[in-house]
Amino acid sequence: MPVDLNTAVPHSARIYDYLLGGKDNFEADRQAAAAIVKASPSLPISMRANRDYLARIAHFMAADLGIRQFLDIGTGLPTSPNLHEVVQRVDPASRVVYVDNDPIVLVHARALLTSTPQGSTAYLDADLLDVDKIMAAPEVQSLDLSRPIGISLLAILQFVPDEARAHAILDTLMAPLAPGSALAISTVTAHNEQAVQAAATYTARGIPAKPRTDDEVTGLFRGLDLVTPGVQLVHRWRPSPSAPAVDDEHVQMSGGVAIKR
Ligand SMILES: C[S@@+](CC[C@H](N)C(=O)[O-])C[C@H]1O[C@@H](n2cnc3c(N)ncnc32)[C@H](O)[C@@H]1O
Repeated sequence: MPVDLNTAVPHSARIYDYLLGGKDNFEADRQAAAAIVKASPSLPISMRANRDYLARIAHFMAADLGIRQFLDIGTGLPTSPNLHEVVQRVDPASRVVYVDNDPIVLVHARALLTSTPQGSTAYLDADLLDVDKIMAAPEVQSLDLSRPIGISLLAILQFVPDEARAHAILDTLMAPLAPGSALAISTVTAHNEQAVQAAATYTARGIPAKPRTDDEVTGLFRGLDLVTPGVQLVHRWRPSPSAPAVDDEHVQMSGGVAIKR
């Protein structure tokens, strides 16, 4: 069946791609991106900081926590380094399942399926809101659920504005996982005026988005042990000493990593 890209309507994955300098976007996405950047000029810096955070949390889960299986939900369009590239550098046998519900990500998913021969990558076209379907999918069931899994939800939970729904989704994701599994989150912070403006512009363009306070982000990890330094603006979470400095005022995402005991 041909994929319906619905190019007249902005999609978050393509807006994100455009802001990161990618080519997989359409006029409606570029117009939405222009409106969002007008309301929130530091958004491209923030998105880059979020991508750098992705590389750090992935490396942390693989190298420090020893996790070898990963479920990344809301993957977005392939952007180097992709999560599997980071964790397979730690152990080439690492296995990654990517999940997104945007048809354009599905079209480009082949670029995510570049696993090492020892490991594996899989792509699942599914909706985070239908989390039971994700957990029942053969791609996820083929992971060894008796061993730890690292779940990453990066720059996606702002699109699940209902707090009770977000908690229910996270509970369903974490419940079947073995102790030692980890959850990594980044999401739009409410402590930055430009982030609040950007979320309002997404919402006005038909993509409801919610900024969260640090307390709300911390609440997303309920029942899990947050690792040091807890919930932080993403560039402040275990920063790489060699990374160029980024001002807090430019960073619109906060997040952290927690472990299931
Ligand atoms: C802002 S991008 C983040 C991409 C990547 N995780 C990162 O942090 O660089 C958000 C992604 O989440 C996906 N997404 C949004 N809502 C979703 C849902 N309900 N189910 C699955 N994916 C969703 C979008 O299609 C998009 O690719």
